[in-house]
Amino acid sequence: MPPRFLKEKENVYSPPRAASRRRFFVLAAIAALVLLVAAVIIPVYFTVIRKPSDRSASAGSSSGSSNSSTSGSSGNSNPKSAVAITGGDGSTVTMDNGSTFTYHNSFGGRWYWDANDPFNNGAQPQSWSPALNETFQYGVDRIYGVNLGGWLVTEPLSSVPALYQKYPGTIDEWTLSQAMAADTASGGLNQLEDHYKSFITEQDFAQIAAAGLNYVRIPLGYWAIETRQGEPFLAKTSWNYFLKAINWARKYGIRINLDFHSVPGSQNGWNHSGRLGTISFLNGTMGYANAQRTLDYIRIIAEFISQPQYSSVVTMLGIINEPRAIFISNENVQRFYGEAYSIVRTASGYGAGKGPIVSLHDAFNGLPWWAGWGPGADRLALDYHPYVAFDKPQPVDSITNHVTLPCTRWGNQLNQSMSAFGMTAAGEFSNAITDCGTYVNGVGQGSRYEGNYIYDSSFQRVGSCTPYIQWQNWDATYKKAMMQFAMSSMDALNNWFFWTWKVGNSTMSGTVEAPAWSYQLGLQQGWIPTDPRSALGACGNTDPFTGTLPGSATGSGGTTIDSSFLATIGWPPTTITNAAPVTGLPSYTPTGAVPTLTAASFTPTTSSVTINAGNGWNNPSDNAGFMVPINGCQYNDAWMESAEPTPPACTPARKRDDVPPSLITPAPQR
Ligand SMILES: *[C@@H]1O[C@H](CO)[C@@H](O)[C@H](O)[C@H]1NC(C)=O
Ligand SMILES: *[C@@H]1O[C@H](CO)[C@@H](O)[C@H](O)[C@H]1NC(C)=O
Ligand SMILES: *[C@@H]1O[C@H](CO)[C@@H](O)[C@H](O)[C@H]1NC(C)=O
Ligand SMILES: *[C@@H]1O[C@H](CO)[C@@H](O)[C@H](O)[C@H]1NC(C)=O
Ligand SMILES: *[C@@H]1O[C@H](CO)[C@@H](O)[C@H](O)[C@H]1NC(C)=O
Ligand SMILES: *[C@@H]1O[C@H](CO)[C@@H](O)[C@H](O)[C@H]1NC(C)=O
Ligand SMILES: *[C@@H]1O[C@H](CO)[C@@H](O)[C@H](O)[C@H]1NC(C)=O
Repeated sequence: MPPRFLKEKENVYSPPRAASRRRFFVLAAIAALVLLVAAVIIPVYFTVIRKPSDRSASAGSSSGSSNSSTSGSSGNSNPKSAVAITGGDGSTVTMDNGSTFTYHNSFGGRWYWDANDPFNNGAQPQSWSPALNETFQYGVDRIYGVNLGGWLVTEPLSSVPALYQKYPGTIDEWTLSQAMAADTASGGLNQLEDHYKSFITEQDFAQIAAAGLNYVRIPLGYWAIETRQGEPFLAKTSWNYFLKAINWARKYGIRINLDFHSVPGSQNGWNHSGRLGTISFLNGTMGYANAQRTLDYIRIIAEFISQPQYSSVVTMLGIINEPRAIFISNENVQRFYGEAYSIVRTASGYGAGKGPIVSLHDAFNGLPWWAGWGPGADRLALDYHPYVAFDKPQPVDSITNHVTLPCTRWGNQLNQSMSAFGMTAAGEFSNAITDCGTYVNGVGQGSRYEGNYIYDSSFQRVGSCTPYIQWQNWDATYKKAMMQFAMSSMDALNNWFFWTWKVGNSTMSGTVEAPAWSYQLGLQQGWIPTDPRSALGACGNTDPFTGTLPGSATGSGGTTIDSSFLATIGWPPTTITNAAPVTGLPSYTPTGAVPTLTAASFTPTTSSVTINAGNGWNNPSDNAGFMVPINGCQYNDAWMESAEPTPPACTPARKRDDVPPSLITPAPQR
């Protein structure tokens, strides 16, 4: 039985019908165009595909030759360079853009960056968290994390609200991208890259370590890899910033949970999936084809991050964020999870220390539902997103009366799941007890608390949201209650990633208007603990979970999910919700060239040094082609806004010339 608040979240988040109808006609036109030009487009897939690029060192953004850093560093000096390569509290850091700042870390953290050895894992975020070259003992060491929400997948709430405020009527990254692209005078779609450049910078990573945190969860959309016809997202750009995140995380000793947040067709219909509206992932006639594409993207990401250069930094892969099993079916969510898990393990290899932990969102079933899932699994984790903010009814009294709510609601669930499933973490939670705050529900959706929530008119107005937004007016008593609520959450959840590190200023007020969602603001204003360890015991839990996790989630070995279990949930699905049996549905065929992900370029300061950043592909025998349209077959719009008839069944006899040569990814240059 899922917890009540999750059911509420499901109930109130049905897709907006009015918007869907309006957009349908536009889409129908686009869909027609897609079909018309398909013959032109399909070959394009094969020509624009990136081949693994030459990784030889080239001029990049690194500036290891800068010697602007001065004494005062408590770290060692690199004899080959005037720039320090490591240091502790008070040392001077030279950033990758050449600027310097003073590293403050009162927890014994140590940064490490040597331009001649950019894969060195010597950095440590705090004395009590393992350095990157040490083992993180899941179940014993705690994940203290924040999301870098709103960065590489924009959101009205968690990004700079001004991004959306500049283009009234935009509600998700899809519409934002269209509006930006049309506004060439302001820089067009590349304005998104300006956001990537400025919203999160190297100093955020240093501050995250200084805040006592050891992990970040970074949402990433599939457009980091490619987009296909009609998809307006900025393609192949956010990946370059994810690469910066890897370098910065490595430098400050932070581990990364890469969360695949936005997939073709949308897995939940919510704005943060890229597009608000219909679920077309494992739902509707394009549901299977979209899942095939998604599995390919998961494979491409897994191949990159499993390379030994990256596997100690990107240690966790959330394969898909918040799929809504209530619409997709639990059967197919599990089938997809099983297949994605096998794909990641094929990319990374089995056994200790090879490749990421695969993190599965609970798909809103609640944690107990997953107990025992995936017997025998090597490196598997469960992801849970407990929010109070969307409760029904909304609280009539102040947060001062709710400070122990997280303990009673979550305390037992999380530690029981650690025993019954294995590694479990809260991938998202916030400090909000109401849904008040600018864009907390998206743009123009109203709020439950004020009784004008557009998806559910049965919410009674409780009061004005203003007191929840104007944090400048919060007194010491109120901040203390916020702090207690935060600490209860942290203690109850055991392993956690706050949503989110940073919320941008609103253009309306010039300040943060969703204060309970910003870790950084809470730290500055005194309602988030400056040392997350101080939350230990906040729930009076004298017997917190410690110990070895079942299912080898610690990376201590294991093989794979028991084959008998996988057989019961095999891939592909037999039927897709709101569509024909899978055999009658449009599907892709693995004959394309795989667009592998490119590594960053590194600039050593010593000319004799060569740096091997990998060719993007960990397992050379993982050489199936890329899922692409079958020549001559018809496809519906991947982002269907309403039911479309199933195209004629299509498995044409392929003429040899029609089929592009399959590109086998070349073996890594090691
Ligand atoms: C390092 O600093 C010295 C003295 O300020 C200057 O002459 C030299 O050009 C600098 N070198 C680099 C690589 O910036
Ligand atoms: C980790 O790196 C640091 C800094 O280079 C080094 O001092 C330490 O010995 C390394 N630890 C292990 C276990 O390799
Ligand atoms: C380098 O990045 C920092 C943010 O991390 C920024 O404050 C600084 O202005 C940048 N310096 C240059 C020269 O761009
Ligand atoms: C829109 O996104 C916000 C986060 O930015 C989320 O809290 C909200 O639930 C989403 N709403 C919809 C309808 O997608
Ligand atoms: C599932 O797909 C059908 C057919 O395309 C569509 O009508 C329905 O709205 C979709 N369900 C959701 C929850 O989006
Ligand atoms: C938000 O505005 C405040 C002043 O209200 C300013 O100090 C802060 O730097 C701004 N933050 C960002 C990310 O621009
Ligand atoms: C789990 O947490 C609850 C509440 O915080 C506590 O009472 C219980 O002893 C814990 N159990 C285990 C096995 O850690």
